[in-house]
Amino acid sequence: MKRIKRIGIITAGGDSPGLNAAIRGVGKAALGYGMQITGFRDGFRGLAEDLQVRLDKHALAGILTVGGTILGTGRDKPHRMEINGQERDMTDVIARNYERHKLEALVCIGGGGTHKNALRLVEKGLNIITLPKTIDNDIALTDATIGFDTALGIATEAIDRLHSTAHSHHRIIIAEIMGHRAGWLALGAGIAGGADVILIPEKPYNIAHIATAIRQRSRHGTNFSIVAVAEGAMSREDAEAFARAEEQRKNAKSKAQRQRAKTELAVLTARHSGNTLRLSKQLEELTHLEARVTILGYVQRGGTPSAGDRLLATRLGTKCVELIQDQVFGVMVAARGDGAKPVPIAEVAGKM
Ligand code: F6P
Repeated sequence: MKRIKRIGIITAGGDSPGLNAAIRGVGKAALGYGMQITGFRDGFRGLAEDLQVRLDKHALAGILTVGGTILGTGRDKPHRMEINGQERDMTDVIARNYERHKLEALVCIGGGGTHKNALRLVEKGLNIITLPKTIDNDIALTDATIGFDTALGIATEAIDRLHSTAHSHHRIIIAEIMGHRAGWLALGAGIAGGADVILIPEKPYNIAHIATAIRQRSRHGTNFSIVAVAEGAMSREDAEAFARAEEQRKNAKSKAQRQRAKTELAVLTARHSGNTLRLSKQLEELTHLEARVTILGYVQRGGTPSAGDRLLATRLGTKCVELIQDQVFGVMVAARGDGAKPVPIAEVAGKM
């Protein structure tokens, strides 16, 4: 079997702790096999605009513990990229740049969106291999994603700290936790931090039930409560409204019907962005306790990766290069138990 000599690497989508550990894991293993590694800046845009950076052993040194990504990242899609103010399909340009650099494989480290984009490049005939990263932990067919463990630790520590102030002031404190449409982070941090109420997107909530639970705690002498709410959590009514609009979009028989459903979805999404603040007001009214909101936001994506994320990134990165060496392409390197296993990107893209 011919030896692979040149590979490319990008990080795409939202950043997360452990991305540099993954770049280093891939890079060091690749150098061990005598491969040359070219990084491209800012996700798929770097491939389209040829923003390259050589990753030699000096560039890979000292990055294991550094947050963010030395390559930069972005949410651009190869088939719909804004170039000079105009949306263009850059897939062919990316394929040409891949050829021009004589790349024999391209490693894409990313989340849900990245896997959909990577699949397009697989279909273009590029040798693509991906690593799953996102603090949301919502990628199909892998036990874990790079970044989740660190974000879980940050969110848990935040809940720990919020406990003391909730207790001192006899307040309800609502901690909004990221996760997009998945509840892994809120559920994990909520359980680990001992939150009294945990709200996740997978289980639409009934506000009256939450108020009853909090009032019951007060009656038993505990007049503070911590509510861990996932950013994607919603009330039953809102979940039904979303499901109806989604159904209308799917079953639309005309362009106008589809447009109406899309507009409705956009209105619902915009309204949902204020959900946690609304929830706080509703709970104040129903329980007569003071409520405060803490939105953890991007704090969860920043800073030094945990030991767990460094290990995961190194394990998946190393396996990735072994697979490249064996010329196994079109796969994501999934975490399985203590090991790693290739799964087809086609079975991951678009799934949660
Ligand atoms: O996917 C990671 C994530 O942090 C989600 O939890 C969140 O919904 C989203 O990214 C925020 O995206 P952006 O960085 O584009 O604001």
